[in-house]
This record gives sequence, C-alpha cells and structure tokens, in this order.
Amino acid sequence: MEKNKIVPLIILGLIAATVFFGVKLFESGKTTAKSITLAEIAKHNSGTDCWMAIEGNVYDVTSFIADGKHPGGDAILQGCGKDATILFNTRPMGSGTPHSDRARSMLLQFLIGVLAK
Ligand code: HEM
Repeated sequence: MEKNKIVPLIILGLIAATVFFGVKLFESGKTTAKSITLAEIAKHNSGTDCWMAIEGNVYDVTSFIADGKHPGGDAILQGCGKDATILFNTRPMGSGTPHSDRARSMLLQFLIGVLAK
C-alpha cells in the first residue's frame, strides 16, 4: 500500500480507538458508585457540611442548605450526618408526610455515593 494511504488510515484508527475507550471510561464512571460508611457520613453533620443517607444513597446537600433552597427551612439540618431515610419520608416536624416527587427528583444532583453495607 502506498505511504500516502497508510498515514490517514493510522490517524483514523487512532481516532476510533480514542472514541471507543473514551466511551468505555465514561460508562465505567457512571456505574461505579463510591461506597460510603455511616462513620464517614457522621463527620459531615452540620449545616455548613451536611451529608445524609436516604434509601441507600448518600447525598452532600451542603450547597442546597447554603443557598437557602430548602422549602422546609432548618428542618433539613436534623438529617445531617446520619441515615435520614425516616426523617425524609415522614417529616415528623412538618406535615408528617413523605416528600413530594419533585423533592425526590432534586436529590439526584447531590448524589455522592451509596451507603456501605
Ligand atoms: C432529613 C432531611 C429533611 C427533612 C427533615 C426535611 C423536612 C422538610 C419539611 C418540614 C418541609 C416543609 C413541608 C412540611 O411541613 O412537610 C420540607 C419541604 C420540602 N423539602 Fe425537605 N427535608 C429534608 C431534606 C430534604 C432534601 C434533601 C430535599 C431535596 C434535595 C428536600 C426538599 C424539599 C422540598 C422540595 C420541599 C417542599 C415540599 C415538597 O415538595 O415535598 N428536603 N422538608
């Protein structure tokens, strides 16, 4: 094969390999969730550094609190540093009902890992 055909072929091959392995890397990042213990969560137990577990997932809601975005005000602070599943689902200091689907869908943006078993 002539040299002027081989060079573009090599370049195309390199581009294809980069795209292929890039996609694989991206996918693996999405599926490998960090496992976080309750002991680690307990270190983040204040309004200025607040992690909580809800239904097996772990969320860092520090920015949500700092931005004053919680419609229930300071009630959210009671969940900092612990497994807040029951609090999130019962709101004993408020309506006594589970959070809405809208509240639930807001959680995803704060996801940092899964609760260690
Ligand atoms: C243990 C943690 C939490 C507690 C104790 C709590 C408590 C409350 C309370 C008392 C209210 C006022 C309405 C009522 O009286 O029922 C409320 C409303 C609300 N909270 Fe929370 N909250 C917590 C975590 C969160 C988190 C992590 C999010 C979202 C990222 C969130 C989103 C909302 C929203 C959107 C509302 C408006 C009502 C609704 O859509 O359900 N809350 N919350």
